[in-house]
Amino acid sequence: MEVNKIFENNQKWINEKLSLDKDYFNKLSEGQSPEILYIGCSDSRVTAEEMMGAQPGEVFVHRNIANMVISIDLNVMSVLNYAVSHLKVNHIVVCGHYFCGGVKAAMQADDLGILNPWLRNIRDVYRMYQEELEAIENENDRYNRLIELNVKEQCINVIKTAAFQKAFNERGVQVHGWVLDVKSGKLIDLKIDFKKELEQIMKIYKLS
Ligand code: CO
Repeated sequence: MEVNKIFENNQKWINEKLSLDKDYFNKLSEGQSPEILYIGCSDSRVTAEEMMGAQPGEVFVHRNIANMVISIDLNVMSVLNYAVSHLKVNHIVVCGHYFCGGVKAAMQADDLGILNPWLRNIRDVYRMYQEELEAIENENDRYNRLIELNVKEQCINVIKTAAFQKAFNERGVQVHGWVLDVKSGKLIDLKIDFKKELEQIMKIYKLS
C-alpha cells in the first residue's frame, strides 16, 4: 500500500459508487442504521467489512488488539452502548482470528509495557481454561483453542453489560462468536450456545 496512492484510489472509489447511483453519498450522509455491531482485532489482515461483503452503513465497527471487551475500557464500552442503545443493532459479533499476534504475545513471558494490562485479560482466559488448554498437546492447536475461548469470553463480557441486558429484554439482541482463519479466508461461526451461556452468566451478572 503506497500512501500517495490513497487519494487516487479514493477518487476511483467515489467514481465507481456514483456510476451506480448518483445519490449514493447523499443517501449515506442522511444517517446510519446498521443491523450489526462488529468487534474485531486491529490486525490488518482481518478486514471487517470486506470479508463479510458489507457495504458502508451496514456494520458498526470497533477494533482493538485481540478483539477484547474489557469493562473498564471506555472506548469499547462507549461503542457497545451507543450501538445497542442508540443505533439499536440486533446482532453483536465478536470476531477473533487464528494467527492473532495479540493472543500469541499474551502467551509469552515478556514485559510488553503498556500492553501488559491489556494482554493480562487474555492470560485470565487462559487461567480459566488452563486444564482444557494444557490437555492439548500440539502447541498450535492449543494456541488456536485459546483464540476461540478468548472470543467466547469476550461474548460473555458483552452479556455482562447493562446495555446488552436491557436490549436483550426489550428486543432479544443476539451475540455471535466468530473466528477468521487467515490461512483460508474462511469465517467460522463458533456456534456458542447463547441460551446456555446467558442462563449461566445471568445467575451472577444480572443487572436489570
Ligand atoms: Co489479532
